[in-house]
Amino acid sequence: MAKKILVLLGSPRRKGNSAILADQITKGAKSAGAKVETIYLHGRKIAPCKACMACQKKNSRGCSIKDDMQEIYLKLIGADAWVIASPVYWFTMSAQTKLFMDRCFALPAYQKDPFLGKQIAIAMTYGDEDPFTSGCVNALRTFQDAYGYTRAKIVGMVYGSAMDAGRIRADKKVMREALDLGKKLAEE
Ligand SMILES: Cc1cc2nc3c(=O)[nH]c(=O)nc-3n(C[C@H](O)[C@H](O)[C@H](O)COP(=O)(O)O)c2cc1C
Repeated sequence: MAKKILVLLGSPRRKGNSAILADQITKGAKSAGAKVETIYLHGRKIAPCKACMACQKKNSRGCSIKDDMQEIYLKLIGADAWVIASPVYWFTMSAQTKLFMDRCFALPAYQKDPFLGKQIAIAMTYGDEDPFTSGCVNALRTFQDAYGYTRAKIVGMVYGSAMDAGRIRADKKVMREALDLGKKLAEE
């Protein structure tokens, strides 16, 4: 059966640098036979977690906030792998990406051990030249900690420097790495 991959775009720029890396991952994954669906988080109604803890109660019926995350929870559970693409905003991931991450607190109310073994690819871009001074490493570290804690599996992380939308295409190395990561995600 074809592998199902869900791509989550965390930039407001639908065709920006992080989305371009996500597209490369998609291209690689599709070439290896995977089925890919993409969600543009910025265009969705996703409220911040309000810490009501309804999702943590025994026999919970899920997150109490009835917004677009309800549909996304089901897609996350139905996918074998997730691709999370985000720009660096203020030395970490974008707010759109973080809102999504926070709301994933409720995912275990929809399925037991929803993160266990889930394959994850990360794509990030930043304006600074360096992954450390840009703050990219802070976000990568957050993903490592979050998915290590939840026992998901990070298959790979691609990241590169580009300020203006589209400029990441000039970085042939990271474009290639993203394509290869997509293939790996589909084949693993
Ligand atoms: C609000 C905002 C905050 C940003 N903060 C940073 C930052 O802390 N470090 C950095 O290197 N670049 C920063 N940038 C630049 C973006 O990370 C960079 O342009 C990135 O490639 C954008 O990706 P996108 O086209 O996918 O949105 C920021 C840009 C914006 C709009």
